[in-house]
Amino acid sequence: MNFTQAKEKLEACGQTHLLKWFGTLTDTEQDALLEQIDALDPGLLQVFAARSEEAQRGKLEPLGALTLQDIAESHDRFEAAGLEAIRQGKVGAVLLAGGMGTRLGFDKPKGMYNMGQTHPLYIFECLIRNLQEVVDKAGAYVPLFVMTSEKNDEDTREFFEEMKYFGYNPEYVHFFVQEMAPAVDGNGKILLEEKGRIATSPNGNGGWFSSMLRAGLQGVLQREGIEWLNVFAVDNVLQRIADPAFIGATILSGSESGAKVVSKADPEERIGVLCLEDGTPSIVEYYEMTEEMVTRREPDGRLSYNYGVILNYLFRTDRLLELAAGELPVHVVNKKVPYINDAGELVKPQAPNAYKFETLVLDMVHMQKSCLSYEVDRAYEFAPVKNADGVDSVVSARELLRRNGVEL
Ligand code: UTP
Repeated sequence: MNFTQAKEKLEACGQTHLLKWFGTLTDTEQDALLEQIDALDPGLLQVFAARSEEAQRGKLEPLGALTLQDIAESHDRFEAAGLEAIRQGKVGAVLLAGGMGTRLGFDKPKGMYNMGQTHPLYIFECLIRNLQEVVDKAGAYVPLFVMTSEKNDEDTREFFEEMKYFGYNPEYVHFFVQEMAPAVDGNGKILLEEKGRIATSPNGNGGWFSSMLRAGLQGVLQREGIEWLNVFAVDNVLQRIADPAFIGATILSGSESGAKVVSKADPEERIGVLCLEDGTPSIVEYYEMTEEMVTRREPDGRLSYNYGVILNYLFRTDRLLELAAGELPVHVVNKKVPYINDAGELVKPQAPNAYKFETLVLDMVHMQKSCLSYEVDRAYEFAPVKNADGVDSVVSARELLRRNGVEL
């Protein structure tokens, strides 16, 4: 794209300010900016303009779960089925590690955060250790796909190399990079992070499967005969990955997908809840729930909308391939984004100042015909690291690790 074409494209969507510093850039910087403008999707700006329109939800109804008690009664049967699937090479794991972790305020990939206090214990290490336990039990490796973003890909790969993959077999680890999207200010104007560079951020965790396909990983899925993918977040340091009992229970239930859930700590807990929407599985965010939904209880006293998701899902590969072309809704989220102001100075905001565009893995659940809601004990499996301290923080996660016998 040349300068004139770029100008025309930006005029059509009211973004010509992106060319304000064009004349001051080197040839290479100019080319890079033109490339970014060429790749811009003006459709996202329309999404921003329409953001105040309430998302239309269908009819929401509670969904129960296979409870801890149900699972305990059939645990051995579930585990045996899951281990068998792993041994047959049917299970892969996908680590979503492309996020920016802005709330934590750590300038490296979140997985490089050191949870240890007397010795190093990195978040990636916690996850790989948990996965290794399954590998040891099954006597077979679980292929691990790691999603990074343009912003943290190099650091992540180098760290895995430096740490010798924390003892995992590197032949079974595949990295792939997700896509980026621009950030806009409150008026819908795209921000610059440098005079010649549009401020972009990873476009959410919903694009993981299409990014895998774009990276050419379909060949690996086919070659290895992977039928199930267990997708999980980087930031839960107690995350049980490729959990054989979860896999076995999902397979034996005949469900198209599975989701690990925890009983809500209290009705107001800020966690997305697995429910039914127009008869198919769906996740309702805590801020979308009415007071009636938040407080409603079943005859046994349990909250009707009780089961919160912890970003640990199991999807069928064949179903994902069918859905690959399907459009996920784009969410507009308010975050802190450093930018170049009118005077050409870099501003590092202390509070959310911008809007990012993200698709979310939780929306993929609604595309499944069925989803096994599989309860896990939050004391053993849920220690999210979102913030430096307070709720869901390094401090709370360290405490939970200690309670699980992990030496810090
Ligand atoms: P979060 O929703 O916590 O987002 O991600 P985040 O970007 O990591 O953190 P904040 O909100 O800026 O503090 C949940 C999971 O999804 C991954 C994250 O790495 C984490 O495992 N994720 C998120 C991606 O892989 N890509 C994204 O674009 C966003």
